[in-house]
Amino acid sequence: MTIGTDVAVAAAWLRRGALVGIPTETVYGLAANALDPEAVLQIFAVKQRPAFDPLIVHVHHQDQLAELVTHVPDEARALMSHFWPGPLTLVLPKTTRVPDIVTSGLPSVAVRMPRHRLTLELLRALDFPLAAPSANPFGYVSPTTVAHVVDQLGDSVPYVLDGGPCAVGLESTIIGWEDGVPVLYRPGGLAVEDIEAVIGSVRSNVRQVLPVAPGMLESHYAPRKPLFRGDVKQLLAEHAERPVGVIAFRRRIEGVVCETLSERGDLIEAARNLFAAMRRLDAAEIECVLAEVFPDEGLGRAINDRLRRASFVPEAE
Ligand code: TXA
Ligand code: MG
Repeated sequence: MTIGTDVAVAAAWLRRGALVGIPTETVYGLAANALDPEAVLQIFAVKQRPAFDPLIVHVHHQDQLAELVTHVPDEARALMSHFWPGPLTLVLPKTTRVPDIVTSGLPSVAVRMPRHRLTLELLRALDFPLAAPSANPFGYVSPTTVAHVVDQLGDSVPYVLDGGPCAVGLESTIIGWEDGVPVLYRPGGLAVEDIEAVIGSVRSNVRQVLPVAPGMLESHYAPRKPLFRGDVKQLLAEHAERPVGVIAFRRRIEGVVCETLSERGDLIEAARNLFAAMRRLDAAEIECVLAEVFPDEGLGRAINDRLRRASFVPEAE
């Protein structure tokens, strides 16, 4: 596997039907030619991702949508003009050109325009869009640096484009339309408040777990160590007898391994630091992770969503 910044090399691998690690502003992706089912199949194999979990198709220009989707609602156009390129994915009715493996057989396809210079350059060099999930083994924390990608998928990808650390650090926010009404499927790197400022209120339909047989998927976006969410003082008292790590918003807690995500209390900075902190705690000499509940506003909603999914015992809220 090679790490580099050569867009021509990355493009050559992709044209040959191979996979390439790509930087985006949200997280690193594992990309393949979205219109080539054989290439896309390798994504599922390398990630050990179940075939029922559909991929996001990445474009560099809105004109590419004509080939991919049959209809773009006015609200979707408005969101694209405000937030693309950026951390927003739109779910729209698909054309027959999009292979079923990309959408897991769904009649819709998820599309987004990433905000990263190298990946936009790469997309412009290709005459096909790129299907790309986050570049992590299925169920694990998404990668926000090239080192995270190499650590986990280094042996199975010929080339990773090094675009530096991800500026946003959380996966894109996903919006679709049901009976003409906008619906939130995943909170992410674009705050729902910003979306609502453009198209008005958005109904939330965030699934806690993927639609699978009960017990198949206990958690998602998860570190390997048990993670408990709640009042950290109380959690520290409950886990006093073992070495623990803490994910805190702005506080620094003495006497334990503590990842403070933003001392100045900035949720954007906290989001950027979350996944790397989760990985460091996974590697630290501790037995479990205790995480604070973040303010339920702006990117705090997406941070809480990821921590909830990562928590050892999925809790109802
Ligand atoms: O920021 C991101 O979105 C990153 C970067 C690489 O672009 N990608 C990413 O992909 O997070 P992934 O595969 O880890 O998550 C894609 C999710 C799926 O799990 C599914 O929930 C949703 O997108 N999705 C894809 N197609 C969909 C569809 N047709 N309808 C509803 N949800 C869909
Ligand atoms: Mg993912």
